[in-house]
Amino acid sequence: MSHAAPDLVRVVQDIADEMRQRPDRGTVASYIPELANVDPGAFGIAVIDADGAVAAAGDSDMPFSIQSVSKVFTLTLALGMVGDKLWRHVGREPSGNPFNSIVQLERERGVPRNPFINAGAIAVTDVILSGHQPREALGEIVRFMQALAQDDTIAIDQAVAASEKRTGFRNTALANYMKSFGVIENPVEFTLGVYFHHCAIAMSCRQLATASRFLAHSGRNPSTGLSVVSPERARRINALMLTCGHYDGSGEFAYRVGLPGKSGVGGGIMAIAPGKASIAVWSPGLDAAGNSHLGRLALERLTKRMGWSIFGA
Ligand code: DON
Repeated sequence: MSHAAPDLVRVVQDIADEMRQRPDRGTVASYIPELANVDPGAFGIAVIDADGAVAAAGDSDMPFSIQSVSKVFTLTLALGMVGDKLWRHVGREPSGNPFNSIVQLERERGVPRNPFINAGAIAVTDVILSGHQPREALGEIVRFMQALAQDDTIAIDQAVAASEKRTGFRNTALANYMKSFGVIENPVEFTLGVYFHHCAIAMSCRQLATASRFLAHSGRNPSTGLSVVSPERARRINALMLTCGHYDGSGEFAYRVGLPGKSGVGGGIMAIAPGKASIAVWSPGLDAAGNSHLGRLALERLTKRMGWSIFGA
């Protein structure tokens, strides 16, 4: 494997040093009780350039709960299974609402705005589940993550999944509401079971940055040659991440960072610099919109210093 450019290595190390020391760390998610046990002082970053060279610093090899970052991969998988028919179940517009909001669903007859808000991701999971047993669907998702990350040790954190299942009242409400409109095909408890478990997959920054390389390089991992999706589909998944990946914080993320990205309440953010790099950062403390506070700041530093914003310098 080649070495990352010296300036990238320096920038990544500088960012990790700054983030370790900052007192403003956001608030660790506690609505999933198991997530509250995570050390708010943790910070990790991994950047993989077009040659496959990795620049990593901090807790870049520590697994964390990827939560909503998993929604990018379930979207990819569902599009591979049913193609554009997926858009009968979910829209492609930013919601301007929190990730677990229910208000739009009534007006829009149970069809969620986009695949990244909880309702949309639950609808996508339901599509993956159709025609399968929950265990098979979940196995498919985990094996997909393992193949993309080239690491078959990637697994579900069962304590996190059980914790969310016990307290997932809002998601249960969203799923039941969609079911009443016929948007969910499978038994609600099966769909939610698969959803909670794929959100509870644990991965490190390095594994996540590896898994998302196909999105930075026209649908294909340039090191392995593995073609995951067509260039057109990769571009469209990136477009959805840019407009919807941070919920009602998506505008601010585009303004500050300028990359397609997806956050999770575990504090992870995956971001794509098209043609240049795949990136994962992790800091468990969240901002008011439920996105990693220092994760976003770290990405803002990175894109500024590397000139990677898709909107120009
Ligand atoms: O459904 C939930 O609430 C969580 N499993 C995932 C939410 C999430 O990660 C939102 N992201 N910032």
